[in-house]
Amino acid sequence: MAKPPDHENPVPVQDRDDRLRRLHRPRPLRRLHRPGRRTVAMLAALTLGAAVVSQAAAVTSALSTPAGGASAAGAVEAHAADLVRQGRATFRYDTFGDEAFWGGTLHLDRAIAGADHGGVGPGVSPRTALSVGLKVDVAALPRSVRDALAAGKVDLDDPAVTLALLKLDAVVGVKGVFASDGSLRSVGIECALCHSTVDDSFAPGIGKRLDGWANRDLNIGAIVSLAPDLKPVAHLLHTDVPTVRKVLSAWGPGRFDAQLFLDGKAFRPDGKTAATLIPPAFGLLGVNQATSTGWGSVTYWNAFVANLEMHGQGTFHDSRLDNAKQFPIAAENRFGHVRAPVDLISAKLPALQAYQLDLAAPRPPAGSFDRAAAARGKRLFDGRATCSTCHVPPMFSEPGFNLHPGSDIGIDSFQADRSPTHMYRTSPLAGLWTHRKGGFYHDGRYRDLGSVVRHYDRTFHLHLRAGQQADLVEYLKSL
Ligand code: HEC
Ligand code: HEC
Repeated sequence: MAKPPDHENPVPVQDRDDRLRRLHRPRPLRRLHRPGRRTVAMLAALTLGAAVVSQAAAVTSALSTPAGGASAAGAVEAHAADLVRQGRATFRYDTFGDEAFWGGTLHLDRAIAGADHGGVGPGVSPRTALSVGLKVDVAALPRSVRDALAAGKVDLDDPAVTLALLKLDAVVGVKGVFASDGSLRSVGIECALCHSTVDDSFAPGIGKRLDGWANRDLNIGAIVSLAPDLKPVAHLLHTDVPTVRKVLSAWGPGRFDAQLFLDGKAFRPDGKTAATLIPPAFGLLGVNQATSTGWGSVTYWNAFVANLEMHGQGTFHDSRLDNAKQFPIAAENRFGHVRAPVDLISAKLPALQAYQLDLAAPRPPAGSFDRAAAARGKRLFDGRATCSTCHVPPMFSEPGFNLHPGSDIGIDSFQADRSPTHMYRTSPLAGLWTHRKGGFYHDGRYRDLGSVVRHYDRTFHLHLRAGQQADLVEYLKSL
């Protein structure tokens, strides 16, 4: 984002059209994508290193289905399974080329490595990394490393250990790029950084991946602040570096401001940070508009984030961002018209969407709520408390147009007005129990579910007794 994206079209339109036609025409390609051993073998080769293969596979297998025939029914299932596999790889491991920004522009790699390892400053120890909410994927650690960790033989204060973890691809959502001499050359981020956590089964912050869960421990502001050079960010926002640091330190854990680099608004009118909570990326199947202010569909937002927030290299179009009154920074930098010379994003969007939509909200653990009270709460939710007029199960959002002005739910419109919709999206509620940290509503203004229910009781004049409010809370915990 520091470098305004290249919106000079690098390929003449005529050539591009020809290329597109060529992509879709040839029969040999199609045959390759009939599900079968060859596809499976090809998918097995879908590793990070084989980025080119993965991109080609994503385009062709997502957008072309095998030609009819006897196995057509089975082909649908096989196609779906392929997409989920590709989408998972993208969600977990793809940086979309964004290391050009996080490493190349901000030089975060140098802060991570530290002066002893070719960078600057003290470096980032595993203890520091865990303290800012980064997570370690235990499945990526070889047995020897797990044993050494369990035996307390790993020095968690040594930045060299962080580098070793990055080399193993074990830091969830962070990709280290290493030179042949083993030194850290650059660093990129992945979707999993914000939308995954781990189950802490090995140690706090170390465990099996939980894809789609909001990482409410992650202090993105603190991580970005580590960057030795924040001038590009300051320049973009027409401010100075100390102000940028002040803004980043106001975010706190579990928050990020996806609109800051569009409108330059860092604080709400009451002086609190304008950053919003990281939401889960699961339970979205059947939900119409995505994001708390309904920017678009899941795949709209995936493209938005990959291009504009992660600073991957791709194509993004949204003429709504040309509105200089609402989005001065986006309009100035033509963020609604991004076209990188090489597109590392678009080909991956179909499978990424398929994977996202297949991430079901996890069920709450047995014993985490009172069943009888939850059953009473459900009757209130669907009846007297009128909750299900908006939160329609099983999506818990309206089938159809699921946006409301703030006045419908008794809140201000500050954040809604930062979106082209000027509205709030009815939140899907399944899996609420996974993101209690940081509070509820887009900005966490209600610290627990009891406060949310009290807010509705006041706003809608429900006159629920304390016991009824408690029943509603138990129901919300059961979703
Ligand atoms: C730096 C942290 C961060 C990264 C990285 C990130 N997101 Fe998000 N994501 C957010 C935040 C914050 C929001 C909430 C935005 C809002 O509601 O205004 C969000 C919202 C979403 C939503 C909407 C959820 C809903 O309830 O409608 C989806 C889907 C999503 N992200 C998917 C992705 C994908 C896919 C990637 C990778 C391409 C990604 N995100 C990368 C922070 C992140
Ligand atoms: C008029 C439509 C509407 C009604 C009726 C409604 N809600 Fe909501 N609900 C919303 C919207 C819109 C949001 C998103 C608010 C935000 O993010 O700021 C929301 C958010 C929530 C959240 C927070 C979710 C999260 O992830 O932070 C909970 C919990 C919730 N509602 C529960 C209820 C309950 C319980 C009732 C009934 C007492 C109810 N809602 C009635 C529209 C509604």
